[in-house]
Amino acid sequence: MKLCFASRNPHKHREIAHILGDAFQLLTLDEIGCREELPETASTIAGNAICKARYVWQRYGMACFAEDSGLEVDALNGAPGVHSAHYAGIPPDTKANIERLLKELQGISNRKAQFRTVIALILPHGELHTFTGTVSGWITPVPRGEQGFGYDPIFQPEGHHLTFAQMSLQEKNQVSHRRRALDAFLNFLHNHPCIRR
Ligand code: IMP
Repeated sequence: MKLCFASRNPHKHREIAHILGDAFQLLTLDEIGCREELPETASTIAGNAICKARYVWQRYGMACFAEDSGLEVDALNGAPGVHSAHYAGIPPDTKANIERLLKELQGISNRKAQFRTVIALILPHGELHTFTGTVSGWITPVPRGEQGFGYDPIFQPEGHHLTFAQMSLQEKNQVSHRRRALDAFLNFLHNHPCIRR
């Protein structure tokens, strides 16, 4: 069974391919001939994941999953959340996003935050399923580490003394929000023989 992953983020492709292994034949957007931008017009993380998966299913008629993620900071009422990628403006700028977040948290002692991932899966006949994964942690006072992407240098997951950016891909993948959503997703796929390779 071929399954398209509706994302152009090479970091996510790497992380997801690493977790999925060879259980499924994962296709990229380029491989199915989709070169246009996918719509991300919803006001929630879940809404955006559904929007992207539905777009590919409707236009390219294939089973597909999309994911949308964001960082939710308690003291900022869940911001940047669905706006994580463009927190400091358009085009997305990781360094500026981190700078803005650290500035917003200046003088605030509550540094609690969580990453959230929602995966939306659309099966060949259009049936929709969603899977959520979260990981709680803290925003560090200064960035630490060079690995990963996005807010990784300032996010320290609960129970760990390293930020995501100080962890190897394997270490991050053991605890990450994306890993947890993928575990739920994989569990579902393995129990649906029609979509196995
Ligand atoms: P997307 O819209 O799902 O690509 O994610 C939105 C933004 O959330 C990304 O551009 C990153 O800034 C941030 N983000 C999502 N997942 C992660 C992660 O695993 N580490 C760090 N930042 C992330």
